[in-house]
Amino acid sequence: MSDAKVALGRRLFFEPRLSVTGNYSCASCHDPARAFSDARRVAIGATGQALPHNAMALVNVAYNVSFGWARPQVHSLETQMLEPMLNEHPVELGMKGREAAVSGRLAADPDYARDFAAAFPPEAAPVTFGNVVKAISAFERTLISGNSPFDRYVFGGEHQALSPEAKRGMALFFSGRAGCAGCHSGFNFAGNWRDAQGQTGRASFANNGASSIPIRVPTLRNVALTAPYMHDGRFATLDAVLEHYSAIGARVRPDYDPRLPRSPFTADERADLLSFLNSLTDESFVKRFAQLR
Ligand code: HEC
Ligand code: HEC
Repeated sequence: MSDAKVALGRRLFFEPRLSVTGNYSCASCHDPARAFSDARRVAIGATGQALPHNAMALVNVAYNVSFGWARPQVHSLETQMLEPMLNEHPVELGMKGREAAVSGRLAADPDYARDFAAAFPPEAAPVTFGNVVKAISAFERTLISGNSPFDRYVFGGEHQALSPEAKRGMALFFSGRAGCAGCHSGFNFAGNWRDAQGQTGRASFANNGASSIPIRVPTLRNVALTAPYMHDGRFATLDAVLEHYSAIGARVRPDYDPRLPRSPFTADERADLLSFLNSLTDESFVKRFAQLR
């Protein structure tokens, strides 16, 4: 990590020359104003093809133990990035086979030539595909969010940072009754653990429709900004997600994950949980990166 590498990575994150069509970038699917997610149910690649999954928010990804909704074998940002860059079925940025051409075009741009040289000082020819990946990864490691009302209340001692409703919702979230923190755990409210089989942070809702395959537990930080929800984008609102958990509680099956709720939520409990989820929005994070567009 160096300031020069991060600054270069930031430019490249928004660089349309990385796409086959010349008008698409990482930011086309990871919009800073939406905590680096998009508003689509499933993501759409540069050439218009639909991806199988919803674009994930990028929040504190430096600390992820694995990446992607259902690919526990991807353990680094550098490895993850090869997917959007090189995937062909479907195309995301569509760089496959064009790596050298793209590097050549960037090297011919005096601004980039200067920035790559500053970021990778010992190298004689620093404008390479590998260094593009390294620089963007360095930028991604700066996407740190920890200044939500929840953080200011819990870690900053600001007693007024949360409303009474959000405080009740927080107690419920961390209770065995709702069970949320059993899966959305740790500082990132995400599946950053390994289970007994060594698998990273995944859970399934058992015979509950689309989620019967194990899916990585996503972060809930800034979740109010990242609709629609779930790996397939099937819920348009947070309230619909809470309705889903309540419905699970209403018809418990023996094969359900024991951390899931065992009875439905009341209207008040749902309102409290919603208020708590809204308190995980870090406005300073969004503002810091929104200026980059
Ligand atoms: C076409 C839309 C699209 C583009 C372009 C795109 N992504 Fe993504 N990104 C996604 C989707 C969809 C996922 C979820 C992938 C999955 O697991 O199926 C994702 C997941 C990720 C993740 C994993 C986050 C986590 O918490 O596990 C990272 C990191 C990421 N993208 C970074 C990038 C970078 C860097 C670029 C540019 C080089 C990029 N993406 C370009 C759609 C896109
Ligand atoms: C058994 C583990 C587990 C428990 C318990 C659990 N979740 Fe989840 N949660 C997940 C998984 C896995 C996903 C992703 C599912 C998918 O994509 O289909 C998810 C997704 C979500 C999402 C959508 C996030 C996004 O970015 O799309 C929200 C919001 C959410 N959960 C809130 C909660 C709340 C509130 C509770 C408690 C009532 C809770 N969860 C309990 C595992 C769990």
